[in-house]
Amino acid sequence: MKILMVSSEAAPFAKAGGLGDAVSALCRALAQAGHDVRLLLPRYYFISRKDLGTEAAPLGLPFPSGEVWTAIYKGQLPASKVPVYFLEHEGYFGRDGIYGTKAEPDFADNSERFALLSRAAFQLCRALDWYPDILHSHDWPTALVPVYHRHLERSGSFARTASVFTIHNLGYQGSYPSGRFPALGLPWELFSAAGFDRGGSINLLAAGLLAADFLTTVSPTYAREIQTPEYGAGLDSILRHRSSSLIGILNGVDGSEWDPGKDPCIPKPFDSKDLSGKALAKAALQRSFGLPEDPSIPLVGMVTRLTEQKGIGELFGPLHGSAWRMCNEIALQFAVVGSGEAWCEDELRSLAACLPNFKARIGYDNDLAHLLIAGSDFLLMPSHYEPCGLTQLYALRYGTLPIVRRTGGLADTVENYDEGSGSGTGFMFDVLTPGSVFDTTGWAIWAWYNKPQHIRLMRDRAMNCEFSWDRSAVEYGKLYEMALSHIRGK
Ligand code: ADP
Ligand code: GLC
Repeated sequence: MKILMVSSEAAPFAKAGGLGDAVSALCRALAQAGHDVRLLLPRYYFISRKDLGTEAAPLGLPFPSGEVWTAIYKGQLPASKVPVYFLEHEGYFGRDGIYGTKAEPDFADNSERFALLSRAAFQLCRALDWYPDILHSHDWPTALVPVYHRHLERSGSFARTASVFTIHNLGYQGSYPSGRFPALGLPWELFSAAGFDRGGSINLLAAGLLAADFLTTVSPTYAREIQTPEYGAGLDSILRHRSSSLIGILNGVDGSEWDPGKDPCIPKPFDSKDLSGKALAKAALQRSFGLPEDPSIPLVGMVTRLTEQKGIGELFGPLHGSAWRMCNEIALQFAVVGSGEAWCEDELRSLAACLPNFKARIGYDNDLAHLLIAGSDFLLMPSHYEPCGLTQLYALRYGTLPIVRRTGGLADTVENYDEGSGSGTGFMFDVLTPGSVFDTTGWAIWAWYNKPQHIRLMRDRAMNCEFSWDRSAVEYGKLYEMALSHIRGK
């Protein structure tokens, strides 16, 4: 099948979180399965010149206010033959940041920036004279792809194309003042008819959810959860309405990036049969964070965006968070790599200044993330909601046992510890409170000290879990087939 992926992120070119990992890995796995996959990304200012092909071809995009001129560079996704088309537009993408900067976290013109990207998908295909069977886009930034398809491009060259839209996170919806609607290049009547209008503002995600032929999300449990008011972020009624066209397909682990057997960021490779490399990674991690180098003390790690979603309030909230108590009352070490909300970054710095067993590195650091996941004994992920979660999958692969809330993809990928038999791959709780995070971490540390043979068994089991993108690609392939028969009336 011919598949055009349209995304605002794809690692290693542009990544703010798991979306970037997931899109690139899915492209590789689909190409590996024999599909003709191509990827369209913005040419952000920070993307290195060496990643772009030399020749830029001009591409004019039709907007009612006039043609907008852009250029396309052609590069390649590493470790694959997938062509990557980079959309260049100095005014919209020639600046720092994917969605914004520290000073302006959500650029005021994001609806126009990503409308440009979404519109470009169609013109690019025309320029290439290559028409995809599947147009697959991801999250609010490319939610306009299925909207343009349904309302502007359903006849003609894209009549036999089906649109698939993947929800990686319902918490971000692309909400902008209605005054910006005309710049999207759609007639006014579509503001409410196509479902953009949420309380008088534009909601890009809502319109995308209504327009796409098929919807997916990144775990079966999250697919069910988002149809309830508790997890639906205000869009649950749309998702219930689209229920028969919505499925959950679990993400995987990209072995070209995350493999303890050949990870250049750790001192020595390891596998489930020989964990000596994991012990060296723990020592390197303790040294790098300035923690006492001691193999016998359990090390709890976190690699995370510091946002509400990830349970940072319950963990680090200055008045009630459980991290302070955990570090004071439990014999453990705690190391965090993260960036995000300013109050939380400040709180991490102040905890690190008072607690000898707590260390934090503020910022985005891929190499350190690898070392932390490899060298920790436990990975803490007390998310309010988690569409899939990749960090816990990486942790499992590296024999680092996740401590998680039973929600979304965490519920689908971690198996709870059973004290009697020693079965399980992690430690789980249901209701997120500072107390439950404290208790469950305490439980894991109790097992570390009192049931070392269980910890060894759990590690072995975790490292042998199979979360492959090949299996996900097969499921996407089946969905694409179904979408095509639906569209083509077979
Ligand atoms: P989300 O996409 O919601 O942030 P995931 O667990 O799916 O959560 O993916 C997070 C990805 O981002 C992982 O690859 C993780 O290693 C990476 N990551 C998050 N924060 C940082 C950080 N501060 N430094 C390096 N990598 C990070
Ligand atoms: C989102 C979700 C995360 C998921 C990732 C990739 O950022 O928060 O749970 O793993 O997308 O699909």
